[in-house]
Amino acid sequence: MRNKIRIGIVGCGFMGKVHNDALRRIPQVEIKAVVDERADAAERFADTYNIPLIYKTYTDMLDSGEVDAIHNCTPNFLHYEVNKKALEKGIYTVSEKPLALDYKQAKELSDLAAKKHIPTAVGFAYRFFPLIQTIKEMIKKGDIGEVRLVKGEYLQDWLFYKKDYNWRLEKKISGESRAFADIGSHLCDTIEFVTDKKIKSLTADISTIHKTRLKPMEETLTFAKSQGESEHIAVDTEDYASVLGHLEDNIKGVFTVSQVSAGKKNGLRIEIYGSKASVIWEQEKPNQMWIGRRNKANEILLKDPSLMPKGARSYASLPGGHNEGYNDAFKALFTDYYKCVNGESSENIPDFVSGCRQLLVTEAVLKSNRTKSWVEL
Ligand SMILES: NC(=O)c1ccc[n+]([C@@H]2O[C@H](COP(=O)([O-])OP(=O)(O)OC[C@H]3O[C@@H](n4cnc5c(N)ncnc54)[C@H](O)[C@@H]3O)[C@@H](O)[C@H]2O)c1
Repeated sequence: MRNKIRIGIVGCGFMGKVHNDALRRIPQVEIKAVVDERADAAERFADTYNIPLIYKTYTDMLDSGEVDAIHNCTPNFLHYEVNKKALEKGIYTVSEKPLALDYKQAKELSDLAAKKHIPTAVGFAYRFFPLIQTIKEMIKKGDIGEVRLVKGEYLQDWLFYKKDYNWRLEKKISGESRAFADIGSHLCDTIEFVTDKKIKSLTADISTIHKTRLKPMEETLTFAKSQGESEHIAVDTEDYASVLGHLEDNIKGVFTVSQVSAGKKNGLRIEIYGSKASVIWEQEKPNQMWIGRRNKANEILLKDPSLMPKGARSYASLPGGHNEGYNDAFKALFTDYYKCVNGESSENIPDFVSGCRQLLVTEAVLKSNRTKSWVEL
């Protein structure tokens, strides 16, 4: 029997847990090590999940020779240095998005991975929802005809109040763009993935609703609420972005992103309008999609491998009526990735080239907002 691929998780916050959950369901891998800047968090994590090795720093982990692959679930500013060092060591590298703080860094990483022939992946897991795979297959087979219009939104409310705080509000940790880099990147990756068409040019309008926020004196993890004392900090990254885009083949697009929309929790929604039919899918109701037609009744397709196109079926891991969601999408992404590490190919994996691409889109959004003009990508 082949040895299991030994994985190290870097960062045990929100996404460290998501990666851990998904990886535990993949037989070809074992989680061998964990590291976090907060030593107590790493210890608790290792203890809870019976992970044998805990390191003090990510460098110690990468130098140890004990891991074949890493899952980089650290805050954005660390992605570049951790990913670079892992690639230099020949370690399989799965990074959370955004791949780096800017396009230049991301391109360097994707070039390095290509030079060293190391398979990579970025956490654009929405690609792996069974009905997203279904939409991709439907478009490929021509079921909705020629794609004419695409419309998408990704709306959340977890930064709705001035007192909501997270490291993403600080540019030096998160990067020049916040809402767009954080969730707009998922939206554009998903749209480009299902249509197989790239955004060629765009114009954007971004806005910061809360120009100052209250930062708690104590540390706050993603989605955690703080009750203690706080201080005012200036915020200069966007809460909201709207983008008009032109995609290849003259497809027109409109996208809205917000982290301050009350009631919207993880509201990723994509709408594709073709010359034969339309489709709509929402992340919060991921097991159903709407198919719209002009001359006959509209349909609701419930996720069911027996009703899904052949190419999408393997992405449903349960029969119809058995719901699948966010954690399952990560499991499907990592399953494809580790098959790829073992020599099989998959066109679906968002690799570092895809990660790099979304930083190009993000930088175009910032430039367009700054110059009040259309920007070519
Ligand atoms: N793909 C997705 O759907 C998705 C969703 C949420 C977040 N993310 C991405 O995942 C990344 C992590 O976000 P999160 O929400 O889990 O943040 P988080 O704050 O919950 O967790 C980050 C963890 O990294 C640890 N850390 C900080 N510095 C470290 C260091 N030097 N070495 C080791 N660990 C260190 C922190 O202590 C913390 O435990 C971000 O880049 C974010 O954009 C992706």
